[in-house]
Amino acid sequence: MRAVSKSPARSFQPRSTLPPGVGGHPVEQQHPVAGSKSVNLPGMRPEGGDALVLEGLTKVFRGQTAVDHLSFRVARGRFFGFLGPNGAGKSTTIKMLTGLLRPTAGDAVVEGVRLSQDLLGVKRVIGILPEELPLYERLTGEEYLQFAGRMYGLPRAETGRRASELLEFLTLADDRGKLIADYSQGMKKKLALAAALIHNPRVLFLDEPLNGIDPVSGRVVTDLLRRMTAKGVTLFFTTHVLDVVERLCDEVAVIDRGRIVAQGTIDDIRTQREVGQDASLEDVFLKLISADVRREDLTWIGS
Ligand SMILES: Nc1ncnc2c1ncn2[C@@H]1O[C@H](COP(=O)(O)OP(=O)(O)OP(=O)(O)O)[C@@H](O)[C@H]1O
Ligand SMILES: [Mg+2]
Repeated sequence: MRAVSKSPARSFQPRSTLPPGVGGHPVEQQHPVAGSKSVNLPGMRPEGGDALVLEGLTKVFRGQTAVDHLSFRVARGRFFGFLGPNGAGKSTTIKMLTGLLRPTAGDAVVEGVRLSQDLLGVKRVIGILPEELPLYERLTGEEYLQFAGRMYGLPRAETGRRASELLEFLTLADDRGKLIADYSQGMKKKLALAAALIHNPRVLFLDEPLNGIDPVSGRVVTDLLRRMTAKGVTLFFTTHVLDVVERLCDEVAVIDRGRIVAQGTIDDIRTQREVGQDASLEDVFLKLISADVRREDLTWIGS
């Protein structure tokens, strides 16, 4: 990892009152970006081909550093896997990149929009499926998608059309009129994913998107995500399911105790770590995080 200079804590005031996961903008329309040095003018894409640039992003919770000066780039259109053990700092990083948490220090640029200067501008171009689903349980699935689409500024008719297509696509059409409170966990996950997609984001943050989703829907979702990257959408994705990573990700970063310990294609990392091209990703992962895998039995289990 490249060394990063420590930047002082900066004031980082979220300006949006939108609920988590909801941006607010007319879709397929370039947004004006205010007050950013790396500004892209309406109709132009940011230079350099980077969808994400992290600049020393740091989060300290009550004296404990959860995310420690992360600095890396993600090129546009990448299926980017963000991996690491429990408590490594993955969700905290995603929360900072999406404006749900204020960084203690550092900054990031998302599709040319600087987080510290135009949080609402960032929210306009991103979608997020967070770890804790931000669903309003007293709405029906269909009402929730209507709400999400309207919050992003989509016209009512277009919202309705996209909501119907998404519900059909994710096999939720028969449950469209059911209260979210009565959805199963997997159904809630699929609905939250639909809400993250409805405004056609340029960068999609997915925190454990496949958790609780059945294999058929999982394949539908991963096929869709792959088609999105082919159209230039960038996916920033966490999962603990390593064969999904191997199948889908163009590039990965591995975080351990708040720091990046490896980044690149899976083959690059195999080469760097000298584990051999036939080593499983699990072996590579265990080596990277120097996991202390317990081999001895728990004597009292089954006794
Ligand atoms: N709101 C909070 N207050 C205090 N500590 C927090 C808070 N959120 C996260 N942490 C701490 O920050 C560290 C990183 O947590 P984070 O949720 O980012 O991990 P993660 O990589 O997403 O793990 P998992 O794979 O289990 O989801 C952990 O030590 C966690 O206890
Ligand atoms: Mg997490």
